[in-house]
Parts: sequence; structure tokens; C-alpha cells
Amino acid sequence: MALAIMGSGGDAPGMNAAIKKFVDYCVDRGEEPYLIYDGLEGLIDDRIKKATHHDVAGILHRGGAVIRSSRSKRFFEYEYRKQAYENLKKNGIDGLVVLGGDGSFRAMDRMSHEFPLNFVGIPTTIDNDIYGTEYCLGVDTALNTIRDALDKIYDTASTFNRAFVVEVMGRECGYLAAISAISSGAEICAIPEVDINLPVIEKKLRYEIAHGRRYVLAVVAEGTGKTGAIAEWLEENLGFETRVTVLGHIQRGGVPTTYDRMMGFEFAVHAIDHLLESERSNKVVVWNDGEFGLMEIDDVVSNKYQLNPHHLAMLNLLD
Ligand code: F6P
Repeated sequence: MALAIMGSGGDAPGMNAAIKKFVDYCVDRGEEPYLIYDGLEGLIDDRIKKATHHDVAGILHRGGAVIRSSRSKRFFEYEYRKQAYENLKKNGIDGLVVLGGDGSFRAMDRMSHEFPLNFVGIPTTIDNDIYGTEYCLGVDTALNTIRDALDKIYDTASTFNRAFVVEVMGRECGYLAAISAISSGAEICAIPEVDINLPVIEKKLRYEIAHGRRYVLAVVAEGTGKTGAIAEWLEENLGFETRVTVLGHIQRGGVPTTYDRMMGFEFAVHAIDHLLESERSNKVVVWNDGEFGLMEIDDVVSNKYQLNPHHLAMLNLLD
């Protein structure tokens, strides 16, 4: 069979591991690997190329994706989805693997209702906001990038007796903020899933300040839109000289951790195994309770990811 892989939407560390394994494993199994460059835009424009080991040599340790990615506006139009499907047919592609997030899966779901695709998705986003899977490729590396930044900010915050508000990515999902706040011991965490209770936080901080606390670290999810307001509140209510750091796109890049490389390999193998045994699939590879599985894309895109209640409890946000 001829199988193709592409990235779509925001990139995430570990994509190159998945791409490399995709090519190597296809060849090992006697199948033909193809690479689609530039995401959905490249699919529309027929940037599809048969791959060899050479195309994926020396890429394991690199963040980003050597086949690149895109957020395609054209793909919202039927005529371009049709063109994309025709390109797959023209190149004789029997199965397609898409490394993407929620938006990309929605796009593929739409396309596969219109055309007979054999498609499988690999959840790939640092946001970890895809329903049906506990883990999305790239999350571990992003968490480590944030941890490294928070550890460094702690050093300067504690030296100057300041408050720091650090904004992390995640779109509407507070996963990165919640896990980073827990593992870095931040005093404040704001996530879109829970309304922040400033009077409760103030009471706790005033007590701690009276008993020697000299600095404060607040981790704020971008989806709250409250970074500036929390900084102002720390200045005005608690009298801290406050600095804001928006970590931004550094969270998306960087050398993938060992975990993300291993997960990239495993996701790719499961995706290929599944495509080889199906003629028409519309599923996503998911990871739950330490095992890989498959979930219908309809279920993935029609449900909303929920934060693990255990993590919420660890944050004590509801006090
Ligand atoms: O979905 C991944 C993500 O990095 C989000 O955390 C962030 O909100 C968004 O993408 C940024 O998108 P862009 O790279 O288009 O600015």
C-alpha cells in the first residue's frame, strides 16, 4: 500500500520522531511511504513526494517538523477539499496519517464524510486538549520547557522579592498551566476551566507574607485572558513589584524529550498498523491508561476535553 503522512496546524516536538518512524516502518513492512509537505496547503497544491530513509535521516532530535505544517483557510472550501482528495488519488495514496490537533481533525472529519478516505489521526499539540486521549504528542517537551523557564524565573523572583506572572499557551485548555503550576510550586494558577477566586488567594498569601513569604509566582493560562489583570492585582492589592513574562512560541519548539520521541514512534506504528488492516478508516490513535487504542474521529471532535479532576484537586483552586 502507499501511505502518506502530513502535519497540520500547530507543530509540536516529537513530530519528527513520528515522521521518521512512519517512513522506516512502512519500508520495513514492504509498504510505500509518502510525505506531504506544508500540511493541508501542500495537500491542496500536490506537494506530495515518495520518501526514502534519506529524507528522514538525522531528524530525530529536531523540534518542529521537517515536512512543515500550515493552518489552511482554503481547506474550508469544498473545491479545495476536492482538489486535495484528487491529489491523493493521483498519487495512488491508499492511507493517510495526519499529525494534528482538534481543528485539523475537524477538517479531516469533514473531508472523510465527503470522500472515501482511509485516514487516521495522531493527536499532536502541546495544548493536550483533544478529547479521548490522555496524551498528545509534544506535551512532555512543552511542559519541560515551561518548567525550565519557571525554575529560572523563581531564581530572580526570590532574589528581588518580586511577583512574577507567567503566561503559558494552551488555547482554551488549562492543562499546561495546571501541570506547570503544580510541578513548579506556583502560588497562583489561573485556568479557563475554573473561575479564579482572588479573595481566597489573597487571604492565603497575606498569611504567608506575614510569616515570611517574599515572592509570588503566578502561572496563567493564555485562555483566561487574565495575565494583565492578575499582575495589576498583585501590585495593587499585595504591593508586590510585579513582572509579566509571556512564554509564547518557545513552548512549541525545542529538542523533543525522550518521552516524546518514544511516543512519536509508537503513535506512528499504531497508525500504520491500523491503516494496513482497514480499507476505510476515520479514526484517531489515542493513549489511555498506558495503552494505545483507536477512537472514531466523530467522537473526538464532538466532545470537549476535560481536565483530570485529580489535577484540579491538587491545585486547590476551588477552596
Ligand atoms: O495549539 C497550539 C498553540 O501553540 C496554542 O497553544 C496557541 O494558542 C496557538 O497554537 C498559537 O498559534 P499560532 O502559532 O498560529 O500563533
